[in-house]
Amino acid sequence: MIQIILNGCNGSMGRVVSQFIAETTDMTVVADIDRSPNKQTNTYPVYNHISNCKERGDLLIDFSHHSLLPGLIQYCRTTHTPLLTATSGFTEKDYRELEAASQEIPIFQSTNFSLGINLLIALTCYAAKSLDENFNIEILEKYHNKKIDAPSGTTLTIADAVKKANHEEADFIYGRHGRTEVRKNTDIGIHSIRGGTYIGEHTVIFAGMDEIIELKHVALSKNIFALGALTCSRFLVHQETGLYHMKDLLALSKQ
Ligand SMILES: NC(=O)c1ccc[n+]([C@@H]2O[C@H](COP(=O)([O-])OP(=O)(O)OC[C@H]3O[C@@H](n4cnc5c(N)ncnc54)[C@H](OP(=O)(O)O)[C@@H]3O)[C@@H](O)[C@H]2O)c1
Repeated sequence: MIQIILNGCNGSMGRVVSQFIAETTDMTVVADIDRSPNKQTNTYPVYNHISNCKERGDLLIDFSHHSLLPGLIQYCRTTHTPLLTATSGFTEKDYRELEAASQEIPIFQSTNFSLGINLLIALTCYAAKSLDENFNIEILEKYHNKKIDAPSGTTLTIADAVKKANHEEADFIYGRHGRTEVRKNTDIGIHSIRGGTYIGEHTVIFAGMDEIIELKHVALSKNIFALGALTCSRFLVHQETGLYHMKDLLALSKQ
């Protein structure tokens, strides 16, 4: 039985993850962490910060806020607990700290645990490599009106993947308000829509001369992220120290 500590248990993703863990036969929650611990009643303890957690688990799952990362890394290093973090909005410094901590513990990081979005990223890289520079790349994302960060971590992951694939010169252009010059071929436009109850939509547009290709992924429920995170958790508990991403899991599933 994989024993889990869940950080952000009362958030909208935390609640879905809790529900799926309760339905599995190979996982159980031993402690929850949320800044409002009194929102739920459970048989296991709920703490307001990871630093107060007395329990030990096989894995810490995090769906919360990027500002909580230092405390999570400290706990996981001290207790040698593998960390799976799904939280978005990390800074370059946060990523360096994850990298450093992964020398001591197994860490899985992804801004999007849906298998479909990871296929979209692979297809986008394939298209970017196949099409010439006359195809202008624009990324459009749509999320619900409660999302606090923009653009989404997923959009930045897509844009970074294109840049690494064959657009090293790319500049990310976030919206075009106030711009007066024409678009450069090296630009990748990034546009964020927030409203209503969109779960998450990402469209990558390759706009060429007289033809347009659009690659689109639509999330219809948050379940895909929770189920993906649990699949990756099962993978992570068997790994050595290191920093793992969705491509590691997808590569393994193809063998
Ligand atoms: N990787 C993926 O596949 C994936 C999928 C969906 C979401 N996400 C990311 O996962 C994170 C959580 O998403 P969500 O939809 O569950 O968000 P949410 O509903 O806002 O929940 C966030 C959780 O973190 C807590 N929190 C927020 N700000 C905090 C702060 N400054 N200090 C302490 N606690 C804080 C919230 O506490 P309160 O309830 O008290 O506000 C809540 O428990 C976000 O970063 C989101 O982008 C990732």
